[in-house]
Amino acid sequence: DLAVLRGQLGERLHYFEEIGSTNEEALRLGQSGAIDGSVIVAERQLAGRGRRGASWFCGEGKGLAFSMLLRPQFERALWPRLSLVAGLAVAKAIEAAGLFPEVKWPNDVLIGGRKVCGILMEAEKDFAVVGIGFNVGQADLPQELREVATSLETEGAGELARETYLLGVEAAFVNYARLIATDFPYLVEMLRERCALEGKKIEFLVGQDRREGFCQGIGDGGELLVRNGGKVERYFAADQIRPLL
Ligand code: BTN
Repeated sequence: DLAVLRGQLGERLHYFEEIGSTNEEALRLGQSGAIDGSVIVAERQLAGRGRRGASWFCGEGKGLAFSMLLRPQFERALWPRLSLVAGLAVAKAIEAAGLFPEVKWPNDVLIGGRKVCGILMEAEKDFAVVGIGFNVGQADLPQELREVATSLETEGAGELARETYLLGVEAAFVNYARLIATDFPYLVEMLRERCALEGKKIEFLVGQDRREGFCQGIGDGGELLVRNGGKVERYFAADQIRPLL
């Protein structure tokens, strides 16, 4: 089980058999002084939180839900980059299993156009929590999600254990997070190589506004570039992005 991660993560590991939400627990631990790099993981997550107030479904035994607590040393304005970089770290861990994931900006990770992982970042005044939920087994997905979601098992990720994915993501994330303030162009380059939306006509929400346009890729600040008529618009935040073509 995931408790073996104590060997690699030592006192940074906060392990639970069962939990409501690892993000919620991470926020609590952050308030009570838990160290930078703390990892909160549970065998079973019963009330996972998704973006925009949605809930996150986590299959019995086959899903992987964990949160990482960070106390970034760089300026607050750059913190949103942590969530971009989390998607990249997940993609890297999946590549290590021999698959070819794409990142749907800002941070959904897809395999073959279907979502395999969700990321939720929540920030407080002096720390940030990045929560990651993987679908590991297809059998766990409810019927209504099978069209839009997939799992590592379905995509043939083979025998890699949940622990291995967690450690892969964690190590890549910590490395990339260090580069946010020092070598962001390198990270943007990696994001561009894995951009699921580039060249596609897309529809998305900005607040309550529905917009559309052609995705031209990712800008130097990590923003989404969208051509609409003659001009290119830059989005630093958007939701519910859906390819139309
Ligand atoms: C999304 O795609 O809507 C984001 C889903 C994020 C789910 C993960 S699972 C681990 C962590 N704990 C939570 O309660 N949510 C995140």
